[in-house]
Amino acid sequence: MQIAIDGPASSGKSTIAKIIAQQLGYLYIDTGAMYRAVTLMAQQAGVAYGAEAEIVQQMGQQTISFQLIAGQQHTFLGPQDVTELIRTPLVANNVSEVSALAKVRQLLVKQQQDLAATQNVVMDGRDIGTVVLPQAPVKIFMTASVSERAQRRYRENLTRNITTSLETLKMEIAARDYKDSHRKISPLKAASDAVHVDTTGLTIEQVVQKILEIIHAKL
Ligand code: C5P
Repeated sequence: MQIAIDGPASSGKSTIAKIIAQQLGYLYIDTGAMYRAVTLMAQQAGVAYGAEAEIVQQMGQQTISFQLIAGQQHTFLGPQDVTELIRTPLVANNVSEVSALAKVRQLLVKQQQDLAATQNVVMDGRDIGTVVLPQAPVKIFMTASVSERAQRRYRENLTRNITTSLETLKMEIAARDYKDSHRKISPLKAASDAVHVDTTGLTIEQVVQKILEIIHAKL
């Protein structure tokens, strides 16, 4: 079984995908974390975010993997636990440049497809329903207003001691959406057979309920 959840930045995809995966006993794959890890890799190696060949070379040297630690999913770059580091504004504000690189996408999409080939997955990202798992029986396109998404990110940031203002966050989120939906390769876009879920004004429990109903209707 493959459940694809796509949508713009901070639309609640990962929060919801994690809960759904846990309830169904499926593996949760956060593809955004993979693009963020590659961005961090470039940063740590002192490579420019648009330098495709150098970044691809770095990717050949360090694998990106996930591990469940005390019930929480952690992201690793080689042996380094980068779970927190990939959430910094420096990564968030540069990831769109890295994720627009064709060869980076090719490598990560292959890794994502391999992960989904042998187990039941809930995978979230921008191109899961359109490119990574176009045959997924359940496809969700999750949205929410920019204002609500900025507020969610603001609250999440506070738990990480990141104090970017709400206004700045709104601008950053809108800018990232624009870049992600206007890039040439695999832009953020709903698959033609995706079910649209607008989470504005809904609680996490309400969204989970809605999505479980969509899944059960397909099972
Ligand atoms: O989901 P998250 O906000 O962590 O994703 C970070 C970035 O990674 C996105 O803004 C986008 O540039 C890129 N991304 C992508 N394709 C995916 C998942 C994420 O291009 N499937």
